[in-house]
Amino acid sequence: MTNTTRVLAISGSLRGASHNTALLHVAAALAPSGVEVTHLDGLTDLPPYDEDLDVSPALEPVRALRDAIAGADAVLLATPEYNRSIPGQLKNILDWASRPYPFSALHGKPVAIIGGSPGHFGAAWAHAELRNVLEAIGARVLSRNLSIPRIHEAFDRRGGLLDPDRRGRLSEIIRLLAEDAQRGPTGLAA
Ligand code: FNR
Repeated sequence: MTNTTRVLAISGSLRGASHNTALLHVAAALAPSGVEVTHLDGLTDLPPYDEDLDVSPALEPVRALRDAIAGADAVLLATPEYNRSIPGQLKNILDWASRPYPFSALHGKPVAIIGGSPGHFGAAWAHAELRNVLEAIGARVLSRNLSIPRIHEAFDRRGGLLDPDRRGRLSEIIRLLAEDAQRGPTGLAA
């Protein structure tokens, strides 16, 4: 394991002014030294999952996604909630990333769930369903997550989190995720 823990950040929202993407940038800024957070781009290039297209060698956007996850020591997902569930594009990303099952790049990978919505429940349903999907894929999902209600009011003018308790909880999640990643693929202490 290198000294640097590489965390891949994936947003469940594609829009430019996404609060959840903004939260991933806060997470990157709060990451301790030795933890490098990289944002996954190009997600709109992924076609809807179609087993007829799941060929080898993989389509370029699929290869790029799978290689990005394989090259990361851990994954940090920030997602809103669409119709009380996971946004379709994020579920599509996970469907592509879950193959070949059970030898996918996500299998055994430490993953943490954060995010929120302007509503009062902070995307809690989406986060619960995301946990279920990740466990089905065989990812190692951190028990701690961060769901932020009224997320549109959570940031200061410089894009930081206003609430010190939330900053502390987000820092803790990044630290725990990196620690889990340092345990390697089995999750057992090194
Ligand atoms: C939403 N939104 C929403 N919010 C929520 O708390 N529960 C929900 O079920 C839904 N459903 C929903 C469906 C669709 C299609 C859209 C576009 C939006 C509102 C959503 O939380 C809000 O737009 C967030 O701001 C989206 O996150 P980003 O893009 O700001 O990261």
